[in-house]
Amino acid sequence: MSLRPVLANFHPPLRMLLLAAFVLLGSALAGAGTLQRGPYIQQATSDSVVVVWRTTGPAQPSVRFGAAADALTQEAAAEQIVTRVSVDVAGADALPKLYAEPAEDRAEREKDGKDRDPSTPADTWQYEARITGLSPATQYYYAVFDGGTMLAGNHESYYFKTLPPVGPAAPMRIWVVGDSGTGGVAQKRVHTAMQDFTKKTKRPLDQYIHVGDMAYGDGTDFQFQRNFFEIYDETLRNTVCWPSMGNHEGHTSRGQTGFGPYYDAYVVPAKGEGGGVASGTEAYYAFDIGHVHFICLDSHDLDRTPGGAMYRWLQADLEQVKAEILIAFWHHPPYTKGSHDSDREGQLIEMREHIMPILEEGGVDVVLTGHSHIYERSMLMDGAYVTPTTAEGVILDDGDGNPEGDGPYRKSAGLHPHEGTVQVVAGHGGASLGRQGTMPVMREIILDHGSVVLDIDGAQITGTMIDKEGATRDLFRVEKSGTVTVERVAQPWQPVHDPGLLSEFSIDFAKDEDGDSPVAFELESELDAVAWSYPSAPNAPKVKLAQVDATKAAAPVVAVYEPFKSAAFEAKMNVYFGENGAGQAGMLLCYQDTKHFYYLQADVAGQKLRLIKYAGGEPQVLREVTAELKRGERVALEARMDQGTFAAQAPGAALVYKDEAPLSAGEFGFRIEPGAHLQLGAFDIEK
Ligand SMILES: [Fe+2]
Repeated sequence: MSLRPVLANFHPPLRMLLLAAFVLLGSALAGAGTLQRGPYIQQATSDSVVVVWRTTGPAQPSVRFGAAADALTQEAAAEQIVTRVSVDVAGADALPKLYAEPAEDRAEREKDGKDRDPSTPADTWQYEARITGLSPATQYYYAVFDGGTMLAGNHESYYFKTLPPVGPAAPMRIWVVGDSGTGGVAQKRVHTAMQDFTKKTKRPLDQYIHVGDMAYGDGTDFQFQRNFFEIYDETLRNTVCWPSMGNHEGHTSRGQTGFGPYYDAYVVPAKGEGGGVASGTEAYYAFDIGHVHFICLDSHDLDRTPGGAMYRWLQADLEQVKAEILIAFWHHPPYTKGSHDSDREGQLIEMREHIMPILEEGGVDVVLTGHSHIYERSMLMDGAYVTPTTAEGVILDDGDGNPEGDGPYRKSAGLHPHEGTVQVVAGHGGASLGRQGTMPVMREIILDHGSVVLDIDGAQITGTMIDKEGATRDLFRVEKSGTVTVERVAQPWQPVHDPGLLSEFSIDFAKDEDGDSPVAFELESELDAVAWSYPSAPNAPKVKLAQVDATKAAAPVVAVYEPFKSAAFEAKMNVYFGENGAGQAGMLLCYQDTKHFYYLQADVAGQKLRLIKYAGGEPQVLREVTAELKRGERVALEARMDQGTFAAQAPGAALVYKDEAPLSAGEFGFRIEPGAHLQLGAFDIEK
């Protein structure tokens, strides 16, 4: 049992006394540190690895490892363990410190009325154990200890794999995720879908690349804990996550100084430990795995122009690459029309105009990014640096890249300038989705949650987009052999631009930092168009929500809440329609089994109460009754669902519908067309 939740029940003065008592007790006994985070694997090379974990309270740290989970015959050298502590730890002046909020940030935060201190929790001890002298491409099992007490391990899921030797071709499977760190349902499903996919295909992950925004909303230590480490724990304990910093982590971490919770969380090869030119900073770095060279950049808060240190390092690194395949990743996509627009936003434009030319000169094969909450995957392209982006003259192969379809994209063996890049925007890892337009260089545009599994086998790079339900939604391959003559497609294929597919606002719920009950929830929206929060109790049958104002919104506001598990529930919602606008709003019920979406819509303009079903294809109006709805007055909506019968009420209207499909568990949310203002009342999700 962890100390913290127990102590949380006591009043602060008593808590301090008890804490002091526990600390005293702790110093008297070995094995007093409580596991707080991890263990997880970092900075693997072909002969070393770093195991990271944290305890609340000091421990006598050690890592034992060996060829089997029950044969941990070796131990990491004690002098190879770096210990870092929270600033409150007394008598630890010599130890490096974990993040504490700088005074100027505190002043700004308090000015904004945010009362939660993002500093590392008190009495935190972080251990980073470097294990060296390992054999390449070998799997070891491990456990972490406090003195003689095992904190974690003793299970076949606690293992690490050293990298294959640099040079010879090595097969590998890489999981690519972006913009995932909400702690919400979609993020968890995306993770589970990947786990199911690796089991089904009988090929475990070798590496994990996160393209940023892993800890909404401010990349605080607590948000890292809850929205990253706790969600991905099963993966992180045996797979290195190679990170790139997102703008949300940038709220508390700084690329210039390498300071903040993001830099506390990761140990990356800043000194060229894994191959490539030493960057001297954890903000950007390079490493080799077998025949593949990886480059990670910081697109958020560093100079992206040719005069900058990052650019000059990138140039130096590209000049010495001897790999067969080159993959680069960072947060801000050079090409996107998802929840962000690369024709209009500075960081995205600069990555395209300054960074892409030298990467393509260096022969880059695949660029992985996030930030834009959508999946977008390009055709084979080169030289698209002007703004705005058009497809003219920059597409080398306008096929779908699918071996079962138009065939893979072909490039010459080895790295050669300007033979084509595939751009992958994987910002669909969990946060609310959005699409503002159609980027003409894209071959696939999918507005759904998911992630990308990248398999590298010899000269083949295969990307598979797995959605949150586990379905394969896109598959492309780059094949590098022989000598390929580059030709540009005169009139390339173009993705369909359907204004009906666009969604300016889409909002998910994310649990806020306060882990105590009642938990505060917070809406995450990168667009900052609608910002609000509401308090609730976790798992409580009744949830009170605040308000969403879409009276001035330009597009529908859509939100999906946590799932309900019962076939029977009641929901109440109040809608206020402003004087202008279309004025339609209501509740959304999404059923997991059938994937059907029901929208109980109050339409003040048409004086109707409607039940609309979305089941793929055109929405279908199941029932429509006349209702007495008034602008400027609160409209109460009530719905009851019981074993497939849907009964709803609004002023002057009653609607009953029985669906042929058996309805059970699903998700509850709402949709507001521009012009409405919504206030959710209490709703019961369990009978
Ligand atoms: Fe972002």
